[in-house]
Amino acid sequence: MRYLTFALAKGRMANKTLEILEKIGYTCEEMKDPKSRKLIFTNEEQKIKIFLSKANDVPTYVEYGAADIGVVGKDTILEEGRKLYEVIDLGIGKCRMCVAGPKEAKKLLENGEIIRVATKYPNIAKDYFYNKKHQTVEIIKLNGSIELAPIVELAEVIVDIVETGSTLRENGLEVLEEICPLSARMVVNQVSMKMENERITKLINDLREVLAHNKE
Ligand code: PRP
Repeated sequence: MRYLTFALAKGRMANKTLEILEKIGYTCEEMKDPKSRKLIFTNEEQKIKIFLSKANDVPTYVEYGAADIGVVGKDTILEEGRKLYEVIDLGIGKCRMCVAGPKEAKKLLENGEIIRVATKYPNIAKDYFYNKKHQTVEIIKLNGSIELAPIVELAEVIVDIVETGSTLRENGLEVLEEICPLSARMVVNQVSMKMENERITKLINDLREVLAHNKE
């Protein structure tokens, strides 16, 4: 039996994903050692390997087959636009992709004015403004602390993730439009889905069962 390789997006979501995987019998004791500098972990009995990577890189590893399976946010899946199968919503890391800004910016959106939009997600912003709203805008790519952009007048609005809404509130901004709900998804390499169909189907079914129990 060959190894099934998992790529998990680093951070809070990875710990929750490991807890879920443990519930369906996939464990990786080695990973729990906080002193370890290892990048990839193996469970020889279960023939699995797990590694952590930057969220943006998870779809890349999965598309090229360097990982059979990935767990990453829907925001990253949409932004990266890679060829892969999205098979299950893990229901963790729930938040929303929104257009936000000062409340005065609402009028600019309604009037379809040519405004500047700052974001870490230029593809999602482009798709939303060009294809869904048919509004011409100038998109400015930033790499973090996006909420700063309207405050220092780099852009009129932002496209960003809103979880609790406290970052917006504390900076005098608000949600102006909602683009889509987000959460962690499991994605599968298209060839692995065929070659390892039995194992991966069982994994998906086991996960569905655990997730349904969690909801009860
Ligand atoms: C994300 C997002 C918002 C914030 C939203 O930033 O970009 O800034 O979380 O959360 P809230 O609605 O609960 O306040 P992240 O912490 O990932 O860092 P970043 O600013 O580097 O993107």
